Amino acid sequence: MKVLPRFLRACRSEPVDRVPVWLMRQAGRYLPEYRKLRTIHPFLEMCKTPALAVEVTLQPVERFGMDAAILFSDILLLLESMGAELHFDEQRGPRVRCEGIREGAVHGLRVPDMDRQLRFVLEAVKQLREALPEDVALIGFSGAPFTLATYLIEGGTSRTFFDTKTFLYRNPASFHGLMGKLSEAVEVYLLAQIEAGAQAIQLFDTWAGILSPDDYREFVLPYMQRILGGLPADRAPTIHFSLGASTLLDEMKSLGAGVLGLDWRIDLGVARGRLGPSKPVQGNLDPLALFQPRETLRATVSTMLRKGASMPGYIFNLGHGIHPQTPLESVYDLVEGVHSFPVAGTAEGLSV
Ligand code: CP3
Repeated sequence: MKVLPRFLRACRSEPVDRVPVWLMRQAGRYLPEYRKLRTIHPFLEMCKTPALAVEVTLQPVERFGMDAAILFSDILLLLESMGAELHFDEQRGPRVRCEGIREGAVHGLRVPDMDRQLRFVLEAVKQLREALPEDVALIGFSGAPFTLATYLIEGGTSRTFFDTKTFLYRNPASFHGLMGKLSEAVEVYLLAQIEAGAQAIQLFDTWAGILSPDDYREFVLPYMQRILGGLPADRAPTIHFSLGASTLLDEMKSLGAGVLGLDWRIDLGVARGRLGPSKPVQGNLDPLALFQPRETLRATVSTMLRKGASMPGYIFNLGHGIHPQTPLESVYDLVEGVHSFPVAGTAEGLSV
C-alpha cells in the first residue's frame, strides 16, 4: 500500500499519527556538513549543481528525521533567469541588479524558458524524488511576486522598503505591470516543479506584511489568487508564508492557499480560532526560541503543540528561517518533542 507522508496528510487536514515537522531554511549554515561543503563551493554553484543541491537538501532529513524536505535553492534564482543580475555578497547578502526597473521598465524581464534556464532546479527535484524515502514529502517553492519585486527594486534586502513603496505610490500602473510579469513567471516555475515531482509548493511572500491591508488588496491579492488558482492543488497542496501575515489574516484566508504559514507574532491558538478548523496552519515558533535552555524549550514546544494540534491540519515549523548559530541539540530536542506529542483521537497505525 502506498504511504501518504504525514506532512501531506496534515496539508489536507487528514488524521495523522504524529504531528509533522520541518524547519524553514533547514538546509543551511547551522549544519556543520553544510558549512563543510560551502568551504569548497560558492552558494550559487551549490544551487545550480543538482548533485550538490540534492546532497544538501537531504542533510537535515537524514540528521533529524524531518517529515518534509525543501528543495535547496533560492527565491532569487528566478529573477536571474528572467534577466536580472544576481550575486551573493558574504557581508551584504544578496545583490540584484535590473536595468531601468526603477523607471518602471519591465520589458527587460522575460518569462524564463524552464528547460533552458532552470533545468538544474527541475533536475534536482527529479533526483530528490528518487532519493527520498516514501514517507518524506518533497516541497518545491518560489518567492511570491511582491517579495521578488522588492528585491528587484531595492537591489537587496531593505529595512524601510522606501524604493518599493515610493515606486508603488508614484507609479501604480508600472507596479501592476511588474506584478503581472512576475506572476506569470512564478506560475510557470511552480507548475514545472510540480511536473518534475514536487509534492507540495510553498510560496514565500516574506515582505508582504509591510503593506497596509488596502494596499495588499490592491497590489498583491489578485496576483496571488491568480497564481494559486492556476496550480493543481489536488496534486500538490500549497502553503503560503509571509512575515507579519497576522495583520493580514482575513486577506490571507482568501488567497486560495491550502495551508497558511504564520510567524511568531500571532498566538497560534488565536490564529487557529480565527481561521477555523478547515484551514491548515504551519508554524510558528520564534527561531530564536531555539536558544532557550533545554527545559524551557521543551515547555515552549509543548505549549505550541497544544494550541496548534487542537484541530487537524497542523504542521510544526518556525515562524521564519532557522538562525545560522542555532545549537544542533535544540533541533534534536524540538523534533523529538514534536514527534512524541500524543495526537488526540489517533488510532494505531493510522499513518498508512
Ligand atoms: O532550506 C531551505 O529552506 C531551502 C533553501 C532556501 C534558501 N533560501 C537557501 C539559502 C529557501 C527556501 C530560501 C528562500 C529565501 N531566500 C527567501 C524567503 C524566505 C525567507 O527567509 O524570508 C528569501 C527572502 C531569500 C533571499 C536570501 N537568500 C537572503 C536574504 C539571503 C541572505 C541571508 C542569509 O540567510 O544568508 C539568502 C542566502 C541563502 N539562501 C542561504 C541559504 C542556505 C545562505 C547562503 C550561504 O551559505 O551563505
